[in-house]
Amino acid sequence: MAKEKTLFSCTDCGGNSPKWLGKCPSCGAWNTLVESVAEIPGASKNRYSGMAALAPSAAVATLAEIEASDVARTPSGQEELDRVLGGGIVEGGVVLIGGDPGIGKSTLLLQAMDGLQRSGMRTLYVTGEESGAQVALRSRRLGLDHSQVQVLAETQLEKVLATVDKLQPDVVVMDSIQTVYSDQLTSAPGSVAQVRECAAHLTRMAKSTGTAVILVGHVTKEGALAGPRVLEHMVDTVLYFEGDTHSTYRLVRAIKNRFGAVNEIGVFAMTERGLKGVSNPSAIFLSQHSEPVPGSCVLVTLEGTRPMLVEIQALVDSGGPSPRRLSVGLDRDRLAMLLAVLHRHAGVACMDQDVFVNAVGGVRISEPAADLAVMLSIQSSLRGKPLPKGFIAFGEVGLAGEVRPAPRGQERLREAAKLGFSQAIIPKANAPKKPMEGLTVHLVERVDEAIQCVRDLD
Ligand code: TYD
Ligand code: MG
Repeated sequence: MAKEKTLFSCTDCGGNSPKWLGKCPSCGAWNTLVESVAEIPGASKNRYSGMAALAPSAAVATLAEIEASDVARTPSGQEELDRVLGGGIVEGGVVLIGGDPGIGKSTLLLQAMDGLQRSGMRTLYVTGEESGAQVALRSRRLGLDHSQVQVLAETQLEKVLATVDKLQPDVVVMDSIQTVYSDQLTSAPGSVAQVRECAAHLTRMAKSTGTAVILVGHVTKEGALAGPRVLEHMVDTVLYFEGDTHSTYRLVRAIKNRFGAVNEIGVFAMTERGLKGVSNPSAIFLSQHSEPVPGSCVLVTLEGTRPMLVEIQALVDSGGPSPRRLSVGLDRDRLAMLLAVLHRHAGVACMDQDVFVNAVGGVRISEPAADLAVMLSIQSSLRGKPLPKGFIAFGEVGLAGEVRPAPRGQERLREAAKLGFSQAIIPKANAPKKPMEGLTVHLVERVDEAIQCVRDLD
């Protein structure tokens, strides 16, 4: 905590000076400076500051004694957003939405705020990046011509808090946390100190007043520094936008949620009139080849509660003295591991080859169940032979060359069958209990079996 500091204030104008002077530097009056104590930053009379707001001294009680009611949620009307939030906006909850510039954060929040306003909540949209007119222009484009969402174009935290105090809104959006600054700090807006301090103030305000706060954070070029990551521990819910700004689809993923499930994803399509939820996203990450091509394998991945089919592409090409291994949307270390397993346990060598893998559509895949599909696409590219038409795979691969089961295999298979896929290579432990109509299932226990199985299908 900052130490108390003495300074001298003018009894006439309230101006301050670090040392005693005969004449007030602010108003020019003589003999008006008196010694006073500087307010400790964070412990001012402001009703939001000080940790006291977070923890009013309550008596100790056992867990059983404390009344635990389920939190009330207000849906935003954007179903895909509500899905990642765990049902809607929670009173006093703090949500951080991160993502690259231009991916659609402001668009989504404006739409969501309008939905909340319509359901009777008082909403305040604080914009530090755009003028009120620009926000209004966007709202027209989104077809929200008569929206009652209140807009404040302001970047000074104290003024924002004063406005919140006056208007008492139910939800506040701060777009973005990197543009706001507090008077109590001298560092520039967007610096780690400012971003942290401002987020802490807004969080305390949320907890003490019950106002829900949504913070927008740009993922900066430097990655973690001063970006949304420094705030993750402070907030209740962290959502990240994924996807390629050049493609139509955007994914919003919950990576932390005190009020719901993590890893749940919401899928949106960016249209002329804003973001539209995609309620059945299972087939959007497939590139539509008319005939199968080498180096492509469809993976059934389970993101949150919904299975999705994603095409994994690989290109293996002769490389230089130090061949490259690059991956887009998949973990690069995992790729290196899979190449080693392929070599050691299935005799497929790519040592002198460049290997590139890509998950189609800018989707990021973190689950290990993608391993088998990555491996089969690499093998397919290396051989220059496509996998059979209507082919899917999933399963985790271990360092000993074993193929491990993926969670909820039945659901994955059902989704693939529903979309007309006809063949699957999956871990033996995921064997369906009864045959699936239209889907031939090949069960494998080891990597070499999977590789051989594909060769046999030629
Ligand atoms: P924006 O919400 O401003 O991104 P962020 O706040 O994350 O920086 O979205 C910007 C992009 O979305 C911009 O390139 C234009 C596009 N867009 C549409 O395609 N349709 C629309 O209706 C709107 C409002 C934006
Ligand atoms: Mg924006």
